[in-house]
Order: sequence, then C-alpha cells, then structure tokens
Amino acid sequence: MSHSDSTAKQNTAQQRQQIIYTKWANRYDWETAALHLILGKKFGQRLFAQIDEGPMLEVGVAAGANLPYYPSHVAAHAVDVTPAMIERARHKATRLDLRVDFQVMDVTELAFPNNFFHRIVASFIFCAVEDQLAAFAEMRRVLHPDGQIRLIEHVLPSGRLISRLFARLDNFWLNHFGCHLTCHTIDHLHAANLQVLVDEPRWGGVFRYLEVRK
Ligand SMILES: C[S@@+](CC[C@H](N)C(=O)[O-])C[C@H]1O[C@@H](n2cnc3c(N)ncnc32)[C@H](O)[C@@H]1O
Repeated sequence: MSHSDSTAKQNTAQQRQQIIYTKWANRYDWETAALHLILGKKFGQRLFAQIDEGPMLEVGVAAGANLPYYPSHVAAHAVDVTPAMIERARHKATRLDLRVDFQVMDVTELAFPNNFFHRIVASFIFCAVEDQLAAFAEMRRVLHPDGQIRLIEHVLPSGRLISRLFARLDNFWLNHFGCHLTCHTIDHLHAANLQVLVDEPRWGGVFRYLEVRK
C-alpha cells in the first residue's frame, strides 16, 4: 500500500471514530462504567498508583471514567481526539474539584516536550487507534527516562476459537463501536522499543493490565 493510500485509510478511520465517539459522548460514562465494573475498581486505582513525581498524562480520557483516581499532588494533563468527550471530562473534573489541563489531541501527535511525563496512563483506547505503533513511539518520546506507562486494554486473545470469533466480529465491532477486537497491542509495544514489565491477563487474555517503561 502506498504512503498516500495508508494516510487516506487512517483519515477515514479517524473520521468514522469521531462520528461514533461524538454520538456516544453523552452516554459514554455509563458504558465504560460497566466495563470498569467488570474488571473491578482495583485496575483503575493501579493505573495511578505509586506516582511520586509529575507531571502525568492520560491519553484517550473520553468522558473521564478515571478522573476519580487522579492524584492531587502532581500536575495532570488529559487528551482525547474527540472534542465532545473532552467537554464531558472537563465538566466532570469541575464537579470533582480537580485541576486538569484538558486538550483535544491525537495520541499519535502529542504536543508535549521530550521526556516530559513521569506517568502516562490509558484504558481501552488502543483498540480505537489505527496506528498503534505511531502512538507508542510518540508516548515513548514524551515519557521521562524513569517514567512508566500503565495501560488496561483489550487485545486479540490467543485461544484458537475465540480469536477466530473476534476476527469475524471485527468489522461489525469497528463500524458500531469504533474499535477493533483484533489488537496486537503487546507486539506493537515491543516494536516501539518499549519494555513490558508487567503483563497480567484477565478474562482468558481478552483484557490485559500492562506496566511499561522505555
Ligand atoms: C473506548 S474509549 C476509552 C475510554 C476511557 N479511556 C475509559 O476507560 O473510559 C476510546 C477513546 O479514545 C479516543 N481516541 C480514539 N483514537 C484516539 C487518538 N488517536 N488519540 C486520542 N484519543 C483517541 C476516543 O475519542 C474515545 O474517547
């Protein structure tokens, strides 16, 4: 595929997601609340545990499901590519009396300096990012050498039957929910020259809790 073909494909995917996530912005808290509930509060808390130094960044903040876990002793930044999601998150932060720098921004083009963040967190976003490798390379760039990335993601599980089912459902899922079921997230972390320190599977490996450094 030529460079212009792949850029066009990425732009179309991004437009489709923007439409889906803008439509979802008003009810998104409920839907992800269900997802976070299935996995338990513990994982949300672990994303933000042991932050000794700031600043920190959440990518794909959406409607702010993780805001209650934000530490108050470091500067917090949060980005999402969907403006309606950022609006929702901003209101929620006001209700929680939190100070957060919210910006509409694509994770593949982070407008932050090199080596800036001591913690970068994300939950359930990379299933929606077409170019995971570009996103991880960009997160690596802005991560402090002593910093950590913590993620909760759903990936393509390794079981033969379930992976076949996920592959079959992938197009439907993408068109209705704006995300892929067939993510090779861990391979892409390695390809971006990141070290996976912790990889805990949940639900037969469909969900993964990951701690990563450069
Ligand atoms: C499934 S939701 C994640 C929700 C949230 N992190 C949570 O756990 O409730 C995916 C979010 O990622 C955002 N997103 C998708 N592609 C993105 C990108 N390239 N850069 C930044 N945000 C992106 C979407 O706008 C959406 O709000």
